[in-house]
Amino acid sequence: MIVAGGFWGDEGKGKVVAYLALNDKPKIIARAGVGPNAGHTVYSLDNKFGLRQLPCGFVYKGARLLIGPGVLINPEIVLKEVKLTDSGDRVGVDQRCTVIESSHIEQDRSSAHLKGKIGTTGTGCGPANVARVNRVAKLAKDIPELERFLTDVPQEVNDSLGKNELVLIEGSQGFGLSLIHGTYPYVTSKDTSACTLAADVGVGPTKVDDVMLIFKAYVSRVGEGPFPTEMAMEEAERLGIVEYGTVTGRRRRIGAFDFDLAKRSVMINGATQLTITCLDRLFKGSSGIKSYGQLPANAKEFIEHIEGELKVPVTLVSTGKDIKNIIDLRSEKL
Ligand code: IMP
Ligand code: MG
Repeated sequence: MIVAGGFWGDEGKGKVVAYLALNDKPKIIARAGVGPNAGHTVYSLDNKFGLRQLPCGFVYKGARLLIGPGVLINPEIVLKEVKLTDSGDRVGVDQRCTVIESSHIEQDRSSAHLKGKIGTTGTGCGPANVARVNRVAKLAKDIPELERFLTDVPQEVNDSLGKNELVLIEGSQGFGLSLIHGTYPYVTSKDTSACTLAADVGVGPTKVDDVMLIFKAYVSRVGEGPFPTEMAMEEAERLGIVEYGTVTGRRRRIGAFDFDLAKRSVMINGATQLTITCLDRLFKGSSGIKSYGQLPANAKEFIEHIEGELKVPVTLVSTGKDIKNIIDLRSEKL
């Protein structure tokens, strides 16, 4: 199963992946996507984990945690997160991952175009992808500090799929940030759709059985770029929605659920299931609810409207920060 972001942000994906990991018990959770420009927050064991490289599914101790060869790595951040999550015995980094060097970070941060106009996260991802395309980048296998983690992720993942085991592929960045399909030039440095997420970890399209697309009940966006359903900051404040980016700390722009973008995202990602996150932030009466029947009527209408428009079942609904605050409709709807 591939888990991907539907709009621009991470849409609460960290928590959803953690829930799926604990509930479905995959043998492997493989991180795909761009690199440490992503920030995912997981609340677990009374702690708040902000992860940028390791899969958020780390909370399930039975899974091997892999970073696919398509993902950019900052070795310092990888090592820090291995320590933070105490997962050194089950982390694998593909030997072909492109390494972000300090010169890439400097380029990203000092470029008037990247930092100023596009509003990048300043984590060096764009310049590192340029280095890979120019075939001058260092790979993970060139970094002695990573030696004990090096592996062949495509081989591990396909061996596991060959045994009919569940593999969770965890994307990063929303669909709207795709270099190919997004709001160019206000996008990230790579495609972020499900096909590329599969390729990032070395899985062919015929091996993917499910694409879970995650939409927030509203839209948020960090950085510059078009945003058709954006609302004024004051309106967002009135609704009680104020957010800051996990990596950059920048205040996020907020808007209403964008049905046009969502439809296109469903189409290009080939979504088979939808998750709606942060329902509680839009419909206060839904906070902490764990069964669909107990949701307030307006929240249910909203979910049913989404299903009617997008023609894909909403199988998970998140109603709070805690991993337990999930309505799981999979046994009913699939
Ligand atoms: P870059 O990926 O750092 O080059 O940034 C390019 C654009 O993508 C900027 O608008 C960033 O704010 C946005 N971006 C990159 N990664 C994320 C993410 O994980 N969440 C939200 N926005 C992101
Ligand atoms: Mg994020």
